[in-house]
Amino acid sequence: MLGRVNHIAIAVPDLAAATATYRDTLGARVSQAQALPEHGVTVVFVELSNTKVELLEPLGADSPIAAFLEKNPSGGMHHICYEVADIIAARDRLQASGARVLGDGEPKTGAHGKPVLFLHPKDFCGTLVELEQV
Ligand code: CO
Repeated sequence: MLGRVNHIAIAVPDLAAATATYRDTLGARVSQAQALPEHGVTVVFVELSNTKVELLEPLGADSPIAAFLEKNPSGGMHHICYEVADIIAARDRLQASGARVLGDGEPKTGAHGKPVLFLHPKDFCGTLVELEQV
């Protein structure tokens, strides 16, 4: 069911500082910051040869990563995104196995304009999992 790792998302309290760490200390190629108000984050993409890392900073009052940063004030790995070919088939299979899909269970349009779903971390080794249909 799972394809490639699409991205790994890291929540950070200071996007400029995190970008400098990846660009200057780690020598990675980084994008300009992009505000995604409909997702409540500002994101910088770290482009790697085999996947991306997304640095996420809260944007707006009810950012979905605000609570995570309260618990992890210096930042931390927020979720991992796996590609799937058919997100509805993946959802149905996971729900049939007892896994919890967050929200109303219907795919939403993610940060890359593709359908995404999030899976409960308690069902997946303590890690928030995003599925993206590609
Ligand atoms: Co993501």
